[in-house]
This record gives sequence, structure tokens and C-alpha cells, in this order.
Amino acid sequence: MKTLLLNGSPRGVRSDTLHLSMAFVQGISAAADNELFVEHIYEKHIEYCTGCFACKHNGGTCPIEDDMADLLKRMLDCDVVIYSFPLYSYGMPAALKNFVDRTMPLSSWSMVRDEKGKYGHTMQVDTSKMHFVMICGCGFPNSKFNFEGAVRSFALKYPDSTIITVPESPMFNFPQANAFTAPRLEQMKAAGGEYSNDFTLTEQTLSQICSPMIPEEIYAQFANSLR
Ligand SMILES: Cc1cc2nc3c(=O)[nH]c(=O)nc-3n(C[C@H](O)[C@H](O)[C@H](O)COP(=O)(O)O)c2cc1C
Repeated sequence: MKTLLLNGSPRGVRSDTLHLSMAFVQGISAAADNELFVEHIYEKHIEYCTGCFACKHNGGTCPIEDDMADLLKRMLDCDVVIYSFPLYSYGMPAALKNFVDRTMPLSSWSMVRDEKGKYGHTMQVDTSKMHFVMICGCGFPNSKFNFEGAVRSFALKYPDSTIITVPESPMFNFPQANAFTAPRLEQMKAAGGEYSNDFTLTEQTLSQICSPMIPEEIYAQFANSLR
């Protein structure tokens, strides 16, 4: 199996969220024969999509010459693609959203309606073996009134994907919080192992790994004391 981890945090290897994603990938690698590729999106040269739609009429070639062609090739070669990012303004950080826009050449011009009534473009490359995962951390102490927009847009873009949202994620770069973060990283590792079986997670696993690590009032009180 091949796994691509797209790190969408501008903080690069210092990303809070990356702790969670790396634990998840460790779990996959411990359970299955896995080759891992990590791409730090903020280090890449990715221009904005200009909306020319040339890719939809020429068989999938974007006229912009930057790092995106290689990234798409890498992506198509992988079985699992993990989008790892911090919640920014209730969505994805800008460079990662830009990356998602630039995946436009993968789909064709024709649009079809699915059984639920949702329209989407048909793919013009074979993506049938690919499985998508979103792992998103955030600075607020809870998930309600926070992750909804990011979760909804990822699920619309990647139906049947696995979505993991973890509040209080700055704690992962706070050694004093080790007593709370270490168990969560172990749970993420176990979840990676579970995921490698059939590319899904049970509701029970999801509710365990997506819950706050400490009570929200205590987290907020502590965060406010750092001013
Ligand atoms: C521009 C910006 C926007 C943010 N928006 C949100 C937000 O909408 N909700 C939230 O809970 N945290 C928000 N945060 C906090 C980050 O999600 C949080 O600090 C996260 O742990 C950073 O993770 P990273 O180290 O993986 O980049 C925002 C931070 C920045 C810099």
C-alpha cells in the first residue's frame, strides 16, 4: 500500500495536527506493508487555478507549469491520501484549498447526478483505488460550531472519505500536556491499524479520537492564562 500525507499546515513539521496524522500513519504502517510519502504543501510552488477549464477539454493537462503536475502524479499513485490540516477560519488553510482547486484536471467536463441528486464531474483518470482521509486539528476546545463547514465541504468533495477532527490540538506541542496527548496519539495509532483493514473506522473509534482531551472549560481557562 502507498500513503500520501499532505501537510496543509503553514507551520510545516511544527504542525500540531501533524502529530495526530503521523500517529495515524504509524498505525497503518504497523498493520500493513505501507510506503509513506509526505508533502508539505506550503513549501510547494502551486499557482492559483485560473478557471480556464483547459484541463477538461485536453484530457487533463493543466497549462500552468509548477509543482502541481508532480503532486497529482504522486497522488494518483497512492491508495490512501491524507489531508492533514489545522482549521483556519472554519475551513482549510489557503494553500491547501488552492491545492484542492488544482486537482481539477483529474475530472472531466461531463457532469452526472448521483442517486442522492448530487451533481459531480466524472473522473478522467482512474481514481478507483484511492481512499481519502481528513485529519483536522483546531485551537478551540470543542467541535460544535467549529468543524462543521470543513467537514461538510470535505465530505462533498470526497464522498465516502474518513473524517477525523480533534479539538485542543495546540496541546500536542505542549510537553506539559503529555499525560493527555500521549494516550490520544496511541488511540490515533490504533485507529490507523483499524483503517488499514478496510479503509473505514467504526463510529466508536471516531467518537473516541475526536473527543476533547481535557474538559473545555479547563482548556479555555488555561489558554486564556497564556496571554
Ligand atoms: C488564520 C488562523 C485561523 C484559525 N481559525 C481557527 C478556527 O476557525 N477554529 C479554531 O478552533 N481554531 C482556529 N485556528 C487555530 C488553529 O487551528 C490551531 O492553532 C491549530 O492547532 C494549528 O495547528 P497546526 O500547528 O497544525 O497548524 C486558527 C489559526 C489561524 C492562524
